[in-house]
Amino acid sequence: MRVRLLVLSLTAIALSVSSCNFDAKTTKEDRLPPSQFKSDGISMENETKIDALIAQMTLEEKVGMLHGNSMFATAGVERLGIPTLNMTDGPLGIREEISKDNWAPAGWDNDFATYYPAAGSVAATWNPELAYKFGNSVGQEARARDKDVLLSPAVNIIRTPLGGRTYEYFTEDPFLNKKLAVPFIIGIQDNDVMACVKHYAVNNQETNRDYVDVNTDERTLREIYLPAFKASIKEANAYSVMGAYNKFRGDFLCENDYMQNKILRDEWGFKGIIISDWAAVHSTVKSLMNGLDIEMGTRKPFNEYFLADKLLAATKAGEISEKEIDKHVRRILRVLFQVKAIESADRIKGSLATEEHYKDAYDIAAESIVLLKNEHKLLPLKLDGINSIAVIGNNATKKNALGGFGAGVKTKREVTPLDGLKNRLPENIEINYAEGYLERYTKNDNDQKSEITLNTPTTVTALDPEKFQEALEVAKNADMAIIFAGSNRDYETEASDRKDLSLPFGQEELIEKVLAVNPKTIVVMIGGAPFDLNTIKAESSSLLWSWFNGSEGGNALADVILGNINPSGKLPWTMPKKIEDSPAHATHSFPGDGSVTYEEGILVGYRWFDTKNIEPLYPFGYGLSYTHFEFSKIGTNKESYSEDEEIKIHFTISNTGSQDGHEVAQVYVSHPGSSVEKAEKELKGFNKVFVSKGASQDASISIPVKELAFYQEATDKWIVEKGTYLLKIGNSSRNILQEVPIKIH
Ligand code: BGC
Repeated sequence: MRVRLLVLSLTAIALSVSSCNFDAKTTKEDRLPPSQFKSDGISMENETKIDALIAQMTLEEKVGMLHGNSMFATAGVERLGIPTLNMTDGPLGIREEISKDNWAPAGWDNDFATYYPAAGSVAATWNPELAYKFGNSVGQEARARDKDVLLSPAVNIIRTPLGGRTYEYFTEDPFLNKKLAVPFIIGIQDNDVMACVKHYAVNNQETNRDYVDVNTDERTLREIYLPAFKASIKEANAYSVMGAYNKFRGDFLCENDYMQNKILRDEWGFKGIIISDWAAVHSTVKSLMNGLDIEMGTRKPFNEYFLADKLLAATKAGEISEKEIDKHVRRILRVLFQVKAIESADRIKGSLATEEHYKDAYDIAAESIVLLKNEHKLLPLKLDGINSIAVIGNNATKKNALGGFGAGVKTKREVTPLDGLKNRLPENIEINYAEGYLERYTKNDNDQKSEITLNTPTTVTALDPEKFQEALEVAKNADMAIIFAGSNRDYETEASDRKDLSLPFGQEELIEKVLAVNPKTIVVMIGGAPFDLNTIKAESSSLLWSWFNGSEGGNALADVILGNINPSGKLPWTMPKKIEDSPAHATHSFPGDGSVTYEEGILVGYRWFDTKNIEPLYPFGYGLSYTHFEFSKIGTNKESYSEDEEIKIHFTISNTGSQDGHEVAQVYVSHPGSSVEKAEKELKGFNKVFVSKGASQDASISIPVKELAFYQEATDKWIVEKGTYLLKIGNSSRNILQEVPIKIH
């Protein structure tokens, strides 16, 4: 595997031409002399080749490149050596091959892939190196399946805990989001495959996603919803972006001039391609003029797409010029050259489902598991005196590589929690498994993908009497019990938001009763989004949180339970006590009715909870360890900084417990004297530090002063206000260990 340092000389060049020189329908790219393209990784030689290719293409051939001609590909031009553009989902690993014209599996026997942990898990590691490792590993798999575009990462902000795709997204925080997205994309693209950053943008709910018109004020858009997209372009040089289903300020995202032309291309200098989400296009000339390059979808015959026959007709009728079409074709050819899909003998070949890739999946899973509570120190599990363990819960055996409405992975390996325990426990320990609760839905239509928003499956909350009794019996008769509960990928699914935070399938009752018959019970939640854990937190002494955690998830979980791995995951979102406490719900601005205005503005996630002084159930950034860490010698390199400087915060972390471990130091910034509304605190830096037991480790976090800027709507500028700021250093958003004032002059 090709490994690359994270200190990268990135190629995205922000071009310094004022946007007021351009009319709405042209981008800077049209007006720049070809010589400037060199800095973007395209040689003059390739630019000349692209000119020659375009000159030889018929209009039909050009249009063929602008729309899907099968579920996950667009046409090439064989006679000119232009290959088809092959795409694949996605966030959990390389999707199994799909039929050419419908969602049914193609039935290949060589498309088994590694199932990687979901994005929520990556975010919980708070480890950008693991984000790179994930990208690099899955990029290899994309190449082994001969793909040019990987439809990943998904970087939408988690605005509501009920979001059906919460597990697929990283976090509620724009800073953590971009710090993970950038290495992830670089990792993918280091393998001659394009990342496709999705879903651009403000695509934060599944309810009415096909048409909901989202409104935010400009500052909220810039400070919360766009930073990860911007960093993906400007820092990671992502080659492609996926336009979202919904509307923004009245226009569908895939035909949104402001978002695609003005921001993405003119402001950020994006030179790559914009691919629509599947069936997210609603117009021909408008979409193309406003920035979209490729239409993908499924609903109708491919020639009936907006960018197919209709585009040919529009061109022939003079509604759009062939020159405009050439512009989009040129963009596609350029990215094809960039990933060496044209005329290259040394393109990376990749590898699929190797032991090395399973190990990558394991490493991510192992650092993602969050220890929520460990009051009686049941964890790590000590085996002295334990002869039998009751393992309870459908989630002990539930597989999540496939399921629900979204893209999954066909894999030969998914180690379940029960398998993991069997793999790791000594043979003399008896494991008695009881399913405990049944996954019961009154209705679940989520088995066929069609571009309609489905309703959340309604679940049956009553426990099955026999399963319930069986669980109580095994719990009573064992030396201790472990319950695996939570949700799964049929319950948390694309195309639906959850109705509420409650645990489905009667699990709360099951957990309470099991705890009553055997207090020596560890509760492990598996899920991708917050749930109502009030009762469980109150009644159980030991609580772990795990995720849809990939091929090796069960082994990683068993290693955490047994203490082979010291948990170091931190929540990438706030777990509220009740849904009404969450900003989108407190402001009654979810899901809207046809349109939705994000009333909470910049106060998303913990920004809201901290500013409004609302106690969450578990705060953003929270996670315990089996050892104990102490922070000392916290300070900054200076007391006062100018706008171009970097603030360097240094500190020492001592591991005073008896196990090696990682701690995530987090720096939040407050600006109490600000002239504009600010969140009580905002994450601006973090560092995951390894400290051996009994040792102390010096570490630091650097924050460019520019990170402290807010977006000033009146001037459309990022402004760093002068004055005193407070740096709040801690190990969660609610456990601040020291405040250090600094001045910006
Ligand atoms: C999803 C995308 C996905 C695409 C192709 C859409 O429904 O929103 O994330 O990449 O389908 O499967």
